[in-house]
Amino acid sequence: MDTRGLRPGLGRGGHLQVPGKNGMDIGPYESRDLEAMAELYNRQALEEPHVAPMSGLMFEELVIAKSYFDPQGLLVAREGQEVLGWIHASVAPTTEIWQDARATFARICMLVYPVGKLELGLRLVERARDWLASQGHQTLMAFHSRQGYPFYRGLWMGGERMCPTTFVHLHAALSAGGFKATAESAFLRAQLDRRPREEQAAIAAEFVDEPLDMARKSTAESWRGFAPRTIKAMVGKDQAGIIGYVMQPQLTAKLGGPCVNIYLLATNPSYQRKGIAAALVSRAVAKGYELGARRATVGTQLGNVAAHRTYERFGFKPYRLSIGREWNAPEGGGE
Ligand SMILES: CC(C)(COP(=O)(O)OP(=O)(O)OC[C@H]1O[C@@H](n2cnc3c(N)ncnc32)[C@H](O)[C@@H]1OP(=O)(O)O)[C@@H](O)C(=O)NCCC(=O)NCCS
Repeated sequence: MDTRGLRPGLGRGGHLQVPGKNGMDIGPYESRDLEAMAELYNRQALEEPHVAPMSGLMFEELVIAKSYFDPQGLLVAREGQEVLGWIHASVAPTTEIWQDARATFARICMLVYPVGKLELGLRLVERARDWLASQGHQTLMAFHSRQGYPFYRGLWMGGERMCPTTFVHLHAALSAGGFKATAESAFLRAQLDRRPREEQAAIAAEFVDEPLDMARKSTAESWRGFAPRTIKAMVGKDQAGIIGYVMQPQLTAKLGGPCVNIYLLATNPSYQRKGIAAALVSRAVAKGYELGARRATVGTQLGNVAAHRTYERFGFKPYRLSIGREWNAPEGGGE
């Protein structure tokens, strides 16, 4: 279908006037929108237990207060006083210690609009896409796992956030806006009925449990509101493996208790297949259980057999298929 005829034009004050929608415009958020934005977000995520309920205050503290937040990228569709939907686009630094600290990436971090209003979803996506492209970015991500997690980390599907396929309407709007699926992830979860036994590796290792290294400002900001930790498996001076885990008390209202999420797991290739990962997962989950978690979650690549086997051993089962999307500017800059 040719969607060019549906393209909206700029109205007064740079706000977007959408043809055929009486008085609806899309413009940067204003603080008076926050409660209505949170309410729409909560309604959209009502049936997803691994998205934490949001309030206007949480929004201010955990999203808007970040140093790399740009209000121009948080776009709200309004009709009169009513908030119809919103989209959050950002240009933000990488967040993980192994990523290039100087690089910034453009992405759609969040999209909220009612099921059955695809045209509205598409308008929001197009507007966010145009704003990101106007910042000089040719490749845009949406709910992607690549290059970090600057916003909604821990609040939305754990520490490595992507978009579950249960949110079909979000994928529809992103797909209609030219964002192609380029990453697949399995979101697994386990019920913790008892504290798991700590497993031992086939080689002697010392396990060091400590707060995540937050020396990089963007790492600390990405985790605002959370206290992530790591457990390192040390064999002499070698770091044989590492696991990252974080408690998500914000999910208590939905799950009846906090959840523990595994956001990182890696075994040094020269120490693989010696039970290091199993020893690390058993310790992270046991720690979560001690801190009150009765659910554990993790996101991993869909086809990563080694990771799936490791998690299956502890009762993790596939729960959601999540997709990350990307848009690339057309060659030559035209549309
Ligand atoms: C996934 C990974 C952490 C496993 O580490 P490991 O220390 O070698 O794992 P373990 O020795 O503790 O083995 C755990 C289970 O995985 C299985 N496994 C490990 N490597 C495997 C492989 N390459 N192929 C198939 N199964 C494998 C083991 O047989 C064991 O299963 P079992 O309990 O049924 O016998 C490691 O391969 C890795 O670092 N991969 C790259 C990073 C990554 O993918 N991380 C996970 C992202 S969430």
